This record gives sequence, C-alpha cells and structure tokens, in this order.
Amino acid sequence: MFKRFRRVRLNKIVRDMVEETHLGAGDFIYPLFVREGQGIKKEISSMPGVFQMSSDEVLKECDELLSLGLNKILLFGIPDVKDSIGSDALSDEGIIARTIREIKKSFGSRVLIVTDLCFCEYTDHGHCGILDIEHESVDNDATLLITQKQALVHANAGADMIAPSGMMDGTIEAIREVLDKNGYENLPIMSYSTKFSSAYYGPFRDVAESAPSFGDRKTYQMSYSNRREAVAESLEDEKQGADILMVKPALAYLDIVREIRNASSLPLCVYNVSGEYAMLKAAAAAGVIDYERVLLETMTGFKRAGADIIISYHAKEVAVLLRKKGE
Ligand code: PBG
Ligand code: ZN
Repeated sequence: MFKRFRRVRLNKIVRDMVEETHLGAGDFIYPLFVREGQGIKKEISSMPGVFQMSSDEVLKECDELLSLGLNKILLFGIPDVKDSIGSDALSDEGIIARTIREIKKSFGSRVLIVTDLCFCEYTDHGHCGILDIEHESVDNDATLLITQKQALVHANAGADMIAPSGMMDGTIEAIREVLDKNGYENLPIMSYSTKFSSAYYGPFRDVAESAPSFGDRKTYQMSYSNRREAVAESLEDEKQGADILMVKPALAYLDIVREIRNASSLPLCVYNVSGEYAMLKAAAAAGVIDYERVLLETMTGFKRAGADIIISYHAKEVAVLLRKKGE
C-alpha cells in the first residue's frame, strides 16, 4: 500500500492548513543607506529600487515602511569624507549618529533601528578596520578598540540593536564589554557571525561606496569552502555574547543556515545580499522568470532552512505581495 500524499493537497484550505513554513512582513529587516545632504534619493544602477538617501528621505522611507507593516531597518552610513581610520563613524556628529537621532525623534520605538557596525564605508582604503603598519592587511586588535568606540556612538545616539559586520576576531566580546560598562547591558548584538568572503557583495560596494582599494577581505571574511569553520564562527560569537546570529550571503549557503540552526538555540538571521537581489531583478527584466513567485519561493526557502529573520532589499515587495495574497 502506498501513501496518498495528495489527500492533503486537494484544495487551498487544506494546503494552507498543513503549511509548515510561514512568511510574514514581521520576519524582515530592510537595509537603508544614508548619505549627507537634503532631498537626495539616488538609485543604484545594479540594484533597481535601492537608493542612497539623505536623512530627510530616510524619514519618508520609514513612514512608507510602517504603512507596509515593516518596522525594522538596518542602517548604513556613507560619509562625505573618508580617512584611514573611518573618523566619521567615531563621531557623535557623524552621518550615522545624526541619522539615528533623527529617526528616533520622529518614530520613537515604532521603528527598530539596527546599525551596521563596520569601517569599510568610512575608510579611504575601503577595508573593514584600520590597516597594520605594513599597510598589508587589517590590524585585528587595533580595530577592536575603534569598534568599541563606534558601538558607543551608536548606543549613545539611540540604536536599538548593533550589528557588527567586520568579522574581526573578538568583536562580540569587545562590544559587549563596552556596552555593559556604559549602562547598555540591555542593548542586543546581532552578529554577522558567519560571513563569507563573497562575490555576491559586488553591487553593495557600489551603493555603500565601500570596495577595498587594494587586495580583498579574505583574511577576515571566511572561505566559502568551509562548513565546519562556518559553524565554529557562529558558536564562538554565541559564546562571546551575541544575541542573534547571522549567515551571509543566503542563497548559496542554506546548508550552513540549517547546520547553525541545529547547533544553536539563538535566533538566526540570513542576509539576502545585494548580488542575490541583482540576479532576481536582472532575470525579471530579461523576462525569464515569474518574478513574484520566484521571490516568495526564495524567501520561504530561507525560513525553511532555519532562518527566523531575513535582511532583504526585497522586503517592501514581499510585504506588498503577502498583503495581496492574504486578501
Ligand atoms: C560591510 C558590509 C558588506 C555587506 C554588509 N555589510 C559588504 C562587504 O563585506 O564587502 C554586504 C551587503 C550586501 O551585499 O548586500 N562590512
Ligand atoms: Zn566592512
């Protein structure tokens, strides 16, 4: 006797009833890129629908997000002036600090502000920390010191969650320590705990103006060939005090998502990165896929693999689609 799987697929009500994975607008964090100026909203050519914005436009964007049922943003700052140590990121008057304050003033606790903590958008050399004396690579421990400084800048400005993305060893411990020492023991850290050195970040480096001017990030970001190390990276950040773990990129790494899901009880986030977004957009523009269906299938795949949270440039489109579907 064979099993009739089709019995619970016969009509939509039954199919919905046995659905194992649910996607909701609440699962998403939407990335925003803020730059200096007024009235600026500049689209990125490789990422249609993604913009660099001045802070006044960011505020308008937050309004729109709320109207779509999205209430979490991941904030990136792009300063006008970059230098060797990323000074703008270390100043209470820098682009990110001012923008956090503006958003908080207008939206209070209605919008959860997650701040990306890194240096590549702020340094003139485009690396994720300060360079060592030979200027060959990033100095891990010197970068930890300015990482603590940047974390305090974010916290003092009113960030709701700090997300360090630079992949220096010891980052989580360093940030947790400085936050606790300064009365921010309740401020959570979402670690980019397993972040691969990936060509999928290409379009992001255009929007964040953060491409390294020499070399690559292979001494701090991980090799995409390594699965055991990928799990160890996340478990180490859990040990150091991370509240949420992350795998990045998403699409090519769903085995890693599942593995970390099984190895840790912490909430797990995936970053559906710029190159993944650009690929779907390009396929849609070429007319070779049913974009909306492929989009929902992809996002559901992230959750099925074990992700609780999805950072995605598609978040607004998904929110609209889910609303339409529910009607
Ligand atoms: C900065 C950072 C990067 C991304 C998020 N934070 C790029 C990088 O490491 O080069 C990638 C995001 C994306 O591709 O959408 N450390
Ligand atoms: Zn970086």
